[in-house]
Amino acid sequence: MCGIVGYIGKKNAVPILMEGLQKLEYRGYDSAGVAVYTKERIEVRKYKGRLSVLEEHLKKETLEGCMGIGHTRWATHGEPSDVNSHPHTNCSGDIVVVHNGIIENYMSIKNMLIEKGYVFRSETDTEVLAHYVDYFYEGDLTEAVRKVIEKIRGSYAFVVISRREPDKIICVRKGNSLIVGIGNGENFIASDIPAILNHTRRVYLINENEIAIVEKDRISFFDGSGKKVEKEVFEVNWDVTAAEKGGFEHFMIKEIHEQSKAVKDTMVSRVLPDFADIKLDDIILTKEELQEFDKIYMVACGTSFHVCIVGKYVIEKLAKIPVEVEIASEFRYRNPIVNERTLTIVVSQSGETLDTLEALKEARRKGSRILSIVNVVGSSIARESHDVLYTWAGPEIAVASTKTYTTQLIAIYMIALYMAKLKGTLKDEEIAKIKDEMRKLPQLIEETLKHKSTIQKFAAQNSNARDVFYLGRGIDYAVALEGSLKLKEVSYIHSGAYAAGELKHGIIALVEQGTIVLAVLTQDELYEKMVSSVKEVKARGAFVFAIEKEGNTEVENVADYTFYIPKVSDILAPVVAVIPLQLLAYYMAVEKGCDVDKPRNLAKSVTVE
Ligand code: AGP
Repeated sequence: MCGIVGYIGKKNAVPILMEGLQKLEYRGYDSAGVAVYTKERIEVRKYKGRLSVLEEHLKKETLEGCMGIGHTRWATHGEPSDVNSHPHTNCSGDIVVVHNGIIENYMSIKNMLIEKGYVFRSETDTEVLAHYVDYFYEGDLTEAVRKVIEKIRGSYAFVVISRREPDKIICVRKGNSLIVGIGNGENFIASDIPAILNHTRRVYLINENEIAIVEKDRISFFDGSGKKVEKEVFEVNWDVTAAEKGGFEHFMIKEIHEQSKAVKDTMVSRVLPDFADIKLDDIILTKEELQEFDKIYMVACGTSFHVCIVGKYVIEKLAKIPVEVEIASEFRYRNPIVNERTLTIVVSQSGETLDTLEALKEARRKGSRILSIVNVVGSSIARESHDVLYTWAGPEIAVASTKTYTTQLIAIYMIALYMAKLKGTLKDEEIAKIKDEMRKLPQLIEETLKHKSTIQKFAAQNSNARDVFYLGRGIDYAVALEGSLKLKEVSYIHSGAYAAGELKHGIIALVEQGTIVLAVLTQDELYEKMVSSVKEVKARGAFVFAIEKEGNTEVENVADYTFYIPKVSDILAPVVAVIPLQLLAYYMAVEKGCDVDKPRNLAKSVTVE
């Protein structure tokens, strides 16, 4: 995530950059910085904290120049700090870069550059770009950038300026968005349209693998092979609020759509093809240490807790380690049996949830090693943990978690495979097969989203429901719990999720004519059992919406409504199966006119008891 802005023209760039950054702060807010060309040199100012911290510093001096770039950061590589903030420079400060995304192979490039005498100051992957452009520079900045692109891997957008060629800004895009705003004797650059809407509504959208050279009176585009590209001007007719949401009506639906990319980003550089290895940057757990644990505790709240339930199924199946799962607010007060032979895995989007943090401290006091899965770099939970695996979902604005749920699942799969490899519970071929399937997940999410109108139609017809029952077996039960929570929190419709086998132990007493039952049937081994459960509720008059995998058609003859997700292995199915459930909650809430992004009584980060 993160936000990029740039300006070249006749005016002072600083207020224009700051105004743009303010519009982009929702994309990242752990640090911010600007770089401005001041005739003699490029001045860089960057600080940890919200944009207001940078603003306060800039008030104390006169910084002026007609060309500059700016950045608001959401940390991935390296915690939030002044030095890790963007812009980053080469050793002499002549070449300056801001960047969104991830450079997968930055470590090998960094090592090569260090050997050549380059001195690195930050922990970021971005700093590599500044030194690498310097390394290739032979009097032509564009050419040097082109050489860098040939060598780097990943998904990114970055912008480069240099004191050596102060008449231009070079923009590169692959996988992350970047646009150029057209002015009169001035031009603008931004990762997102809202940043420039106060100056122009005429923009060029930079395409994948293109380079844009932006001068004050000219904008040129080149494709990957260096061939000039002609472009159509895109006229923006959205207002700023709609633009922040990328044209979507709410952040929640925008974030549902971002899942394919978020899942991909979280796997990138960790789930590499051809190897059975999984690379988990900040996890330093060794084979010997892992063998010392006799059980794992997984602890979290809300959606993150539901990820833990999937985690129990996955880790026990793949790594054969017993896993106990507990809600953090229960765990922290009941003196659980935890000691130095317990590994505690803590899951949290914000990294600040008080109950989760206190549960972590309780486990730590008892001698447990703590491994956390967190989205916010440098958050309290991350800092209190021995090992951290970050989900690279970017900031989640909607209170209802969506993209962080699916990326947390990816983290669970990676940890389970890492443990399976260390413990030898899976053969290399088996690990490689699961990894291959994992790499297809972004595509499967996209395919599922194509059918969102089916869910929208269902929601339009059923938004007056009073209760919805979610049923699943095995790992589908965990998915049902998440679907049910999503519906409750955004649409205020009462719902409950149950292990389908529990029906006849009480729940079926509630099923009557027209009761909506949402049945999740993605587990091949449990399919027949689930079909029987669907028949049981149908016989009592339930209206059944079934979610199943393409190719399994039996339930279609029994259910009233069937939504097919693409074929996916049972263990990875939650990543795809949750999508229709998120969509259902969203569309039900929209139908009812609820405040989708800020549901009543709820906060994004629960830092109180
Ligand atoms: C889910 O949609 C909610 N926002 C909530 O249940 C959330 O998952 C819970 O409060 C835990 O938050 P965390 O992941 O930031 O720790």
